[in-house]
Amino acid sequence: MQLEVVPQVNWAKACARRLRSVLVNEPAARLCLPTGATPRPFYDAYTKQPNIDRASVVLLDEFVLPSGDEGRCDSMLRRDLLDKLPEPPAHLRTWDTDQDLDDECDRMDTWLSDGELRLAIVGLGANGHVGTNEPGSPEDSRCRVVDLASSTSRGALSYGASVAPAQAVTLGIANLLEASEVWLIVTGAHKQAVLRTVVEDPISPAVPASLLRTHQNLLVIADDAAAGDFKR
Ligand code: PGA
Repeated sequence: MQLEVVPQVNWAKACARRLRSVLVNEPAARLCLPTGATPRPFYDAYTKQPNIDRASVVLLDEFVLPSGDEGRCDSMLRRDLLDKLPEPPAHLRTWDTDQDLDDECDRMDTWLSDGELRLAIVGLGANGHVGTNEPGSPEDSRCRVVDLASSTSRGALSYGASVAPAQAVTLGIANLLEASEVWLIVTGAHKQAVLRTVVEDPISPAVPASLLRTHQNLLVIADDAAAGDFKR
């Protein structure tokens, strides 16, 4: 694991620069992207000078909410990134939650196994989740339907969801570990305690993000508020 701590004012630009640089070298890369509050400033910075038009993008997870609901991850991705791009990514794989959910998860897994996932970018939930791999998610978990922790469910309301979702579909921990590189992006003092747990405590499914430490190529990009004592 590599930990990069960036002053809060530079964090979004630093992430944007890194993503740009991956896509300069590999413009047709396949990327997994997260949504939520954390990536918003990063995407905003990135869209000032985007180079994602040849890339494939897969959405990390999705709440089981009616299509078009403003709190859905695909709605957030559209608002925070896609609508600000002059050209969309060449391929975009989101989740169809109007279908049978298990079948949709199987289709997503098949889609993922069809090529290299060059980079998976994930945020960190206050309860240690990544994607919606809630506490207890094992290292070998794959794309699947999950019951949401109550804090995650309520959190969707802050994204604009019309109701608190009970379930989500998500890439599993194993899917993320199969990516060539993983970035865990973390900002804000409210994430300091959970980040410390992820980085310092024994690796455990109780804190799913800690399982990413088994990856050879994990980069944690934290702002100084989230890093706290890790600041260096
Ligand atoms: P946030 O959510 O970026 O809105 O804090 C992160 C997450 O729950 O994965």
